[in-house]
Amino acid sequence: MSIISNHIDKAVEILKDEDIIGLPTETVYGLAGNIYSEKAIRKIFEVKQRPLYNPLIVHLHSMGQLNEIVKNVPSKAKKLAEVFWPGPLTLILEKNCDIPDLITAGKKTVAVRIPNHTVALELLRKLPFPIAAPSANPFNRISPTSAQHVENYFKDDIKLVLDGGSCKNGLESTIVAFENKEPIILRLGSISIEDIEKTLGKVKIKNKNETTPDAPGMLSKHYSPSTNTYLTSNIRGMIEKHKHKNMGVLYFSTPLKSENIQHFEVLSKSGNLNEAASNLYQALHQLDSMNLDIILAEKAPDIGLGKSINDRLERATK
Ligand code: TXA
Ligand code: MG
Repeated sequence: MSIISNHIDKAVEILKDEDIIGLPTETVYGLAGNIYSEKAIRKIFEVKQRPLYNPLIVHLHSMGQLNEIVKNVPSKAKKLAEVFWPGPLTLILEKNCDIPDLITAGKKTVAVRIPNHTVALELLRKLPFPIAAPSANPFNRISPTSAQHVENYFKDDIKLVLDGGSCKNGLESTIVAFENKEPIILRLGSISIEDIEKTLGKVKIKNKNETTPDAPGMLSKHYSPSTNTYLTSNIRGMIEKHKHKNMGVLYFSTPLKSENIQHFEVLSKSGNLNEAASNLYQALHQLDSMNLDIILAEKAPDIGLGKSINDRLERATK
């Protein structure tokens, strides 16, 4: 078992000792280690069963640290950083030469963000090095939004999960890369496309179905429950079709009355997209733990964070 604790100094000790911890952030929990420790970074890949070709995000506490990690920051990247950091925005930028290849999977670019979480920031300020942290879930599984989710996944593999409560945003960061200094969204996430475009004007989005993903987290099967999961805009019809199965239903806002439904979760009773996003993974973890035959998920409205929610649900159902 790992210890779930809010002792930041204990986390500092473990990280300085080249070991890894569960890290709370505002998006999802991460599995964190010193970016300069090969031992720690290899352990992250190992316990996550993550292929080495999938690079990690470097987490910083301030803009001042950025020059240590990257060079030639395009002006549009600076603008996004000013508006959204600390926060759920990851920028893919040209890396400095001393950033280990293990972090970037040999790429010339590196992913960076400043998380908006007091515990994570306090920890980062106490460390003499930045930390790399992928989401703290085994490869292809649902991301964790509580310390308990992390402990359930990794048990003896990590000594400590630093407890920072349940994640406020509940969906991963939005990832923006640059091609010829122009932004392109690689992963939808906690910041909506609309909000990015308020800052930069029209922005390109990487085609989801591309087979050579620039962000391997964009692989089409990802974020999956163990239970067979289907996404639908006709929830009533799907419930009828599967009525003889032991089913769980993930409603966006309004549950239907039906005798066939023993187990259901509602993402946001008022239909609020922020609330729905923050409840998504918790609800999927909950339904997935119930030994159901099938989970039916209702599509969210295709605007704002609804697009990010639908993106994750599509990947959960492939
Ligand atoms: O919200 C988040 O971003 C969370 C928290 C813990 O910060 N982290 C997270 O990390 O979601 P991870 O490893 O699960 O997803 C990072 C994504 C992966 O899809 C990876 O392929 C992509 O970022 N990525 C990392 N470095 C990259 C690079 N140099 N170029 C393109 N994509 C990159
Ligand atoms: Mg992940």
